[in-house]
Amino acid sequence: MDGGGERNLEVPRTIRWSDGKVILLDQRKLPLKEVYITCHDPRQIAKRIRNMTVRGAPAIGVAGAMGIALAALRSRASDYEDLMDDLRRASKILKATRPTAINLSWAIDRMLMKAKAFRGDVEVLRRLLIQEAQRMAEEDIEANKALSDLGEELLEDGDSILTYCNAGALATIGWGTALGIVRSAVRRGKRIHVYACETRPLLQGSRLTTYELSLEGIPVTLITDNAAAYCMNRGLVKKVIVGADRIAANGDVANKIGTYALAILARHHGIPFYVAAPTSTIDPSKPSGASIPIEMRDPNEVKSIGGRRLAPETVEAMNPAFDVTPSELVTAIITEKGILWPPFQESIRKLLKHQL
Ligand code: MRU
Repeated sequence: MDGGGERNLEVPRTIRWSDGKVILLDQRKLPLKEVYITCHDPRQIAKRIRNMTVRGAPAIGVAGAMGIALAALRSRASDYEDLMDDLRRASKILKATRPTAINLSWAIDRMLMKAKAFRGDVEVLRRLLIQEAQRMAEEDIEANKALSDLGEELLEDGDSILTYCNAGALATIGWGTALGIVRSAVRRGKRIHVYACETRPLLQGSRLTTYELSLEGIPVTLITDNAAAYCMNRGLVKKVIVGADRIAANGDVANKIGTYALAILARHHGIPFYVAAPTSTIDPSKPSGASIPIEMRDPNEVKSIGGRRLAPETVEAMNPAFDVTPSELVTAIITEKGILWPPFQESIRKLLKHQL
């Protein structure tokens, strides 16, 4: 198998708790530089989520949980109620950063529930919350590996996969979702070729997906977003696999802007369109994708590439960061608890009922 790059180098870990601080890999600098940022309090974490130092739904979830752990550690409160007030304040700041990925509020709410259920010494609670955030990081890797083991069975030796944005180790704590499936298939001896769309405006595909696959010697071809239809029409793509930021109760999928267009293209060409995500990405409170909030980012991200402006300064630009793929375009949703098939309303309901 031709890897075309260095082999078996580890993808750097995105988030680490270290001695009362949180260390984040600065993904804005990849692949050119491996730089780490240290956060001491929840406000610093919030800033890093907003400016996408850390990005990807599962990764920002764990970053949010670690932000709550930092809030507990830095709080001067000596009684339970005061500490809870500080945690609620931090939670508000953290949740206000990026609205689309449910993993962020899911992780923060899990931390707050842990704190609410606790009665006792605040020092013990501080330690508990730090442990809980670290446990969530480990659980993320476990969930990714479990869904990858299930998902890789859908891939055949010799398959070529088209993916979008970065749903890999860099979007999670490790292993990844869509790219985790590719990783698992390759580890089991299947020859898989990945087509990575560059993913304008912030180029997570060209900067991050190609970087992490090349590190492991997994063959990858970078294409412009506009080349996806050409590749499908030429028979170069056998399956599409993407991640998700939020999945509604009916199976509609919010993911990086441009995912919807790929799903339409896949349907036109008769290519399976798979979504890979941990169950924490499912939001049963949203009946359909229509009520998923879509993050609107700075229009300057559209007018420039890598900080260099390429459009007239005064031109109006619009920058929705995500779109919603209707569930009827989705072939299956691959989670750590099982592969969900249509009708999704039914399969999602059953899965969540089983989880309770
Ligand atoms: O804006 P980003 O880079 O945070 O968007 C990331 C994506 O859209 C991913 O596909 C999604 O979070 C799933 S990551 C496992």
